[in-house]
Amino acid sequence: MGNIRVEIRENVGILTITRPKQLNALNREVLRELGQALDRVKEDDRIRCLIITGEGKAFVAGADISEMAGMDKAQAHEFAVLGHTVFKKIETLPAPVIAAVNGYALGGGCELALCCDIIIASENAVFAQPEVGIGIIPGFGGTQRLGLRIGIGRVKRMVLTGERIKAPEAYAIGLADGLVQPEKLIEDTVALAKTIAAHPKNAVAAAKKAVQSSYSKRLNEGLKHETSVFERCFSTDEPKQAMRSFLKKN
Ligand code: CAA
Repeated sequence: MGNIRVEIRENVGILTITRPKQLNALNREVLRELGQALDRVKEDDRIRCLIITGEGKAFVAGADISEMAGMDKAQAHEFAVLGHTVFKKIETLPAPVIAAVNGYALGGGCELALCCDIIIASENAVFAQPEVGIGIIPGFGGTQRLGLRIGIGRVKRMVLTGERIKAPEAYAIGLADGLVQPEKLIEDTVALAKTIAAHPKNAVAAAKKAVQSSYSKRLNEGLKHETSVFERCFSTDEPKQAMRSFLKKN
């Protein structure tokens, strides 16, 4: 796989998205590879807890804008469904998944962290849902999963302004569950993962599922609604213009 690396340390898997030149932006290829890697992790008995992180200065800077800029409504629908399908694999993986957020977690990157069970942020991590700035809405679950972590006013503030939340604030408001020094991010997250991995596997998987059952029905309905709103944004020229202007600047 060109964009995903998985290593195993004892009974902890570390999945790294390795597209650093594009700040690990999620295009269709990365999403498909991520899905395949997750299928393999599920089958691998050695992995009792999984960490997801990004290579370089970003965790993930969002869905790939250069790919989205050419999408029509039907393609945007397929893209959102692909994202949701892959993120669901994380949410339903029996082994717990920890996001080790090493830098920018913007748009689809913030949404990737949100579908993990626990979010550990490096002190230099930055979170945001900047989609409105490019004429769309969060399309990989942000409008639904953010509210599971932070109050509705803060959700609206993030989604409507697109403003960036630095790691200490993210930790203070419950968007992140831990805050660690950048150089200790993987070491500390592996230590946390090992604590989980040391417990009986079936009990851990059952506990994850039981907690999720408290919100999963409503979440699934909300995700469907989000997709219909996301794809509708692509029926106007707004996103094309805004995305082209982002790409021109870069
Ligand atoms: N998609 C595609 N390419 C991206 C990208 C993205 N989301 N984010 C960064 N890149 C690319 C840049 O185009 C640039 O490529 P080139 O070197 O070929 O020009 C490269 O990554 C490095 O980026 P910058 O030069 O912009 O780096 P920077 O340090 O100056 O800025 C940044 C970093 C603040 C993260 C900035 O890149 C940025 O704002 N990125 C876009 C963030 C964004 O809007 N994300 C949301 C996407 S929409 C979404 O995710 C929808 C959804 O929910 C499904």
